[in-house]
Amino acid sequence: MLPLTLKTFTDSGCFTHLVGCRATGQALLVDPKLGKRASYLKTAADFGLRIVAVLDTHTHADHLSDSLAFLDSGTELWMSAKTACRRAHRELADGEEVRIGNLAFRVLEVPGHTNDSIALHGHGLAIVGDTLFAGSLARADFVGSSHAQLLESVRTRLLTLPDDTVVLPGHGYRDILFTTIGHERRTNPDVDPERAASGLRVVGSKTDANTPEVEFNLRTNRAARPKLPTTQPTAVACCAPTSAAPSGPRPAEKTCEELAPLQAAIANDRCWIDVRDPWEFQEAHIPGALSYPLSELGFHLAELRRAGPAILQCRSGVRSMTAAKTLRYLGVIGQPINLAGGILRWQELGLPVEK
Ligand SMILES: [Fe+2]
Repeated sequence: MLPLTLKTFTDSGCFTHLVGCRATGQALLVDPKLGKRASYLKTAADFGLRIVAVLDTHTHADHLSDSLAFLDSGTELWMSAKTACRRAHRELADGEEVRIGNLAFRVLEVPGHTNDSIALHGHGLAIVGDTLFAGSLARADFVGSSHAQLLESVRTRLLTLPDDTVVLPGHGYRDILFTTIGHERRTNPDVDPERAASGLRVVGSKTDANTPEVEFNLRTNRAARPKLPTTQPTAVACCAPTSAAPSGPRPAEKTCEELAPLQAAIANDRCWIDVRDPWEFQEAHIPGALSYPLSELGFHLAELRRAGPAILQCRSGVRSMTAAKTLRYLGVIGQPINLAGGILRWQELGLPVEK
């Protein structure tokens, strides 16, 4: 069993990660977004976790951090020792070890997108903030950004980690939840020295001034006690480059009516994978399905590769589509099929489930 529990929250391309120690129930929340706290707390409780620290991997330009609310409720805030944020925080230095229950992670300074960007590495996991994305790099055109420094950070601090390291980025705009160091080293065009030198993909030409909305976010996220709006402002910048590679074709999707005969057949050459959370799987699942929670798929890539062709399912078909896109992006499952309508539709039709 994994020593940790992982849950990634996605919201308009922004990713927040909950990393919990299974043994002690202590958890770290990474890059929380204003307005989403109830959802973070409910999920932590569902997993039997207690959030003991919040990490902002850098001063965010694209959204407002929820770190202040956690600070006010007695939770520690962790940020880089180099940050200009005036909120009370534990100052993390390069090479330092941080602990969450029995879990230990090493702090890596990875400047470029911002001067105060840090990543955590440990337990086969790299939480990288806005540096390396699936198939691209973060923007480096804010005032104070440096594309050369970002590239150097990614090449020397991240791409030197073991190939099978699961990478949790701060953003994903193509519905790809995570990636691996080996996959990005082999395929990411923005870290390829020849392509970068040829200027085929210009990632962030530096500007002299930030947009007003970026300035508002930065000023608010740096302030000790800013007046916060009750919800996240709708007009936000994006932290991905505009040159980010387009999505590939949508994975195949089939209805419950189409797939039910396959499930019932004795000779079924496809593996049925349920990506819901463990308690959802326990309540009811398709007979013979295997449980691989979406946020933790990255730790099971070798098994999934051996499993071969797969039919992916979740509650309604949304999370399993993310799983299908991510596993196909990584080349783990070549032609995944998503179950349209998910278990909800399956049960509506009176098809068999196991409890
Ligand atoms: Fe960012």
